[in-house]
Amino acid sequence: MPLTRKAYRAAILHSIDDPAIVGIDASYEYFEDGLLVIDNGRISALGHASDLLPTLPADIDITHYQDALITPGLIDTHIHLPQTGMVGAYGEQLLDWLNTYTFPCESQFADKAHAEEVADIFIKELLRNGTTTALVFGSVHPQSVNAFFEAAEKLDVRMIAGKVMMDRNAPDYLTDTAESSYQQSKALIERWHGKGRLHYAVTPRFAPTSTPEQLALAGQLLGEYPDLYMQTHISENKQEVQWVKELFPERSGYLDVYDHYKLLGERSVFAHGVHLCDDECARLAETGSAVAFCPTSNLFLGSGLFNLPMAEKNKLNVGLGTDVGGGTSFSLLQTLNEAYKVMQLQGARLSPFKSLYLATLGGARALRLEGRIGTLQPGTDADFLVLDYNATSLLSYRLKQAKDIAETLFVLMTLGDDRAVMQTYAAGNLVHQR
Ligand code: GUN
Ligand code: ZN
Repeated sequence: MPLTRKAYRAAILHSIDDPAIVGIDASYEYFEDGLLVIDNGRISALGHASDLLPTLPADIDITHYQDALITPGLIDTHIHLPQTGMVGAYGEQLLDWLNTYTFPCESQFADKAHAEEVADIFIKELLRNGTTTALVFGSVHPQSVNAFFEAAEKLDVRMIAGKVMMDRNAPDYLTDTAESSYQQSKALIERWHGKGRLHYAVTPRFAPTSTPEQLALAGQLLGEYPDLYMQTHISENKQEVQWVKELFPERSGYLDVYDHYKLLGERSVFAHGVHLCDDECARLAETGSAVAFCPTSNLFLGSGLFNLPMAEKNKLNVGLGTDVGGGTSFSLLQTLNEAYKVMQLQGARLSPFKSLYLATLGGARALRLEGRIGTLQPGTDADFLVLDYNATSLLSYRLKQAKDIAETLFVLMTLGDDRAVMQTYAAGNLVHQR
């Protein structure tokens, strides 16, 4: 294959570590006039344009952006493909919301053509919002995952997904059985896990909708294949937590249910965790598990405020999740806007650099993909986006007043959304142009 080399010149910013560990100043690199060089889908150099330009051949193809910021592609650690058509469902909290809106909407994925249509809309929406990697719930139907992976494969994007396992406490039209969920998951793993940039996640919906037999088989799958992911929900809503206590009286708490069935580990991501206690955070951290912080969803469904400082204290990996359709936006910028407010309501701050970390390198660490995605370090996949300072008239005017990159970044997260994403690149290919 001939070498394809390209370079992109603009302001460039990326996280290089967690501000909670190294402090804000050591957590990022910023190049006011930066250059990003891509060779065959990977980043080969990053630095100041003035340093790198003299090292490059005179005929190299350079795209130069004015009034724009290049960042790593954003990482959504929790989202539901089959809920694309029900964002903004009125009036209910979690358990009634599931029964009233979610299950009927997900039932449409029994139809393969519908699954393919929505997979296409969904993946375009991710890329329009600058999300280049997501950990995705399908529906209970294997075709929802096949449709998604087929669309992702064509675009060569790094994605993780799984079919929901759900064999009780849901309508008959939407349940599998412990055995069928095991067999269907296995077939999907054999077909997709490790194919190109795709990975499979074993996906028990949450403890209330799985029998002990199904949870045990989910744990068994994790033992049968290397590097599989596991995704589920935990401690999102107080009624849900109470229900789990009633369903599993022999376990000491919600997390202990998953622990008992061997669902904790380095590639396990638990969504929400709003009502986790300190001991549960410590156990998650000890096992290398991660939590997806889903602020728009936690506010929209009235679930509560995620305690990020408690997670930090326990050195628990945290990524950011939109949780569409409980969440109300595909935009991780808008998700950070709400994350900031969630911290404010708890008397805490969320610095723009911590926010950047959560949406990029923090997500990569939660997914054990550091070194491949989440930064612009040479050697990593060329997944990045170009944010436009002039995307809206207000953004343009407001950013002219910004005194430094911290303020610029914070304003982008407060006023920005999909309109600010001018281009998205995955493995060096342009996958979205506004
Ligand atoms: N808990 C179980 N299923 C779901 C879901 O689809 N969305 C959210 N937010 N929480 C859940
Ligand atoms: Zn969810």
